[in-house]
Amino acid sequence: MLRNVLLWSSTNPFLARRLPRYNFVKRAVRRFMPGETLDQALTEAQQLEHAGMSSTVTLLGENIEALAEADAVLEHYIGVLDTVKARGLNTEISLKLTQLGLDLGVDAARDRLGRLVRACDPGSVVWVDMEGSDYTDMTLDVYRSVRDEHPNVGLCLQAYMRRTMDDLESLLPLQPSIRLVKGAYKEPPDVAFPKKSEVDQNYIRITGAMLRARKKGKMGRPVIGTHDLRMVAETNRLAHELDLGRNMYEFAMLYGIQRAEQERLARNGYTLRVLISYGEAWFPWYMRRLAERPANVWFVVRQMFHG
Ligand code: FDA
Repeated sequence: MLRNVLLWSSTNPFLARRLPRYNFVKRAVRRFMPGETLDQALTEAQQLEHAGMSSTVTLLGENIEALAEADAVLEHYIGVLDTVKARGLNTEISLKLTQLGLDLGVDAARDRLGRLVRACDPGSVVWVDMEGSDYTDMTLDVYRSVRDEHPNVGLCLQAYMRRTMDDLESLLPLQPSIRLVKGAYKEPPDVAFPKKSEVDQNYIRITGAMLRARKKGKMGRPVIGTHDLRMVAETNRLAHELDLGRNMYEFAMLYGIQRAEQERLARNGYTLRVLISYGEAWFPWYMRRLAERPANVWFVVRQMFHG
């Protein structure tokens, strides 16, 4: 119930204008992002590197309405690639195709993603987020055509979607780099598994398929994007069964969530990438983080009373 209210709030323009003005909301969001600027995100990335972790950065913002805005996002990310290189960081970028103009046409997003991937360092990957199910087919189309021309692009797939195992299989001929997550949007039950147990089961099934494909040389980078310690343990168990080395797959978690586990994985020689968000348009994204764990709402409430 609370999850549904939070997911509904994430798409409400009135709340998106009002709530971010309150200081207690600003204080609460700090738990999930080091700050609104790229510099704050990269300073945190540097600190994570000192602790043996790498990072991905993402500029918050969704659905733009004019191509000029998509161009500004593209220029921003090209600047991020330059800054990351200049600072010598092991930091990649991840973005939503709606930020690159997907609502204004598949070609608009494809063209801009292609330009961004061409600007990316050969050893690095530009990650494409997966958004709500209305965008799945278009996102896969754009990914396929850009991946056909450039290896340096990776895609997020969501285990809560009933179609995802089929999507993975259809992508394997491209040797894709895939970041598997559970999925963060509100979807109808005929599209996405409604029960956590079903999502978890599918997550483990798809992880197994990714690790087997990696073992056979049919995948780029398999990235396990979860804070669920059971998924982490199951991934390591599957990898052990396949005799797949720790350098053959990766974990990814969001900034501020399961920090102790992030450090434990890094200490034990696993690759752990922390996704750091920045930017002013954090409201819908923050509501999705609260919906993932409604207990977080009490943290926001506590911020109302503590300065
Ligand atoms: P689950 O929700 O079952 O949580 C497992 C445990 O992790 C919880 O019991 C709790 O301890 C902790 N936890 C999880 N979320 C928390 C939170 N918000 N606050 C505090 N604790 C929390 N989604 C999407 O649709 N498209 C995308 O492109 C991406 N990209 C992405 C990248 C990366 C690197 C990650 C880690 C996640 C995403 N997501 C995403 C979000 C993803 O779909 C999912 O909503 C969250 O990761 C939460 O799911 P878990 O796998 O952590 O499991």
